[in-house]
Amino acid sequence: MGADHVRDAYAAAAQQYIELFGEVAPDDPDAALIRRYLGALTGPVLDLGCGPGQWTAHLHAYGADVTGVDLVPAFVAHARRAHPGPTFRLGSMLDLDAEDGSVAGLLAWYSLIHLAPEEVPRALAGFRRLLAPSGVLVLGFFDSDDTLASFEHKVVNAYRWPVDVLAEQLVRAGFTEVHRRQQRVAERPDRRYATVVALATS
Ligand SMILES: C[S@@+](CC[C@H](N)C(=O)[O-])C[C@H]1O[C@@H](n2cnc3c(N)ncnc32)[C@H](O)[C@@H]1O
Repeated sequence: MGADHVRDAYAAAAQQYIELFGEVAPDDPDAALIRRYLGALTGPVLDLGCGPGQWTAHLHAYGADVTGVDLVPAFVAHARRAHPGPTFRLGSMLDLDAEDGSVAGLLAWYSLIHLAPEEVPRALAGFRRLLAPSGVLVLGFFDSDDTLASFEHKVVNAYRWPVDVLAEQLVRAGFTEVHRRQQRVAERPDRRYATVVALATS
């Protein structure tokens, strides 16, 4: 499964995705954590796989110098219309053109989940290169009890990662984990949601 397949699947589902997830709810339990780690940084922040741009806009509203990046033209077009403050551009998280060490923070919120596992070390190494020393990476992903496994995500195939396995990949790529959260929500008892925050090791 390549980036073209992911892009085409999200392009076909973009309108529905925007309607379902295009706003950050006032009581969203993730908002405080995302703001805490990425809202007050000095320097550029990238929201990788920003989808409709709701988290980009949220961080921008809290003062971050943030750019949303996504593969899907319909998401980027929507995000530009709906959120005039931040910058949005088309692109892949595997091929980012910012200078090494120039970025203060990265958010990859349920977007790394669509990379094939063998692509993840390259993605994390690229994130590490872009980040300034002690730059912040916030990852949101689906957690798994035991093994790394693909599953039928509603839009396109995705992967569940045991948190320890992804955390190990982060260490190998040059990150130090500083925060971890695993949670279930009542509406989806079959899923577990994980957040890991890591700093670019100096
Ligand atoms: C589950 S959605 C999450 C969107 C948004 N972060 C959110 O929280 O609503 C996954 C997003 O990742 C994007 N994506 C997947 N692979 C990508 C890649 N290699 N580069 C950039 N974006 C990617 C998809 O186009 C989609 O918008």
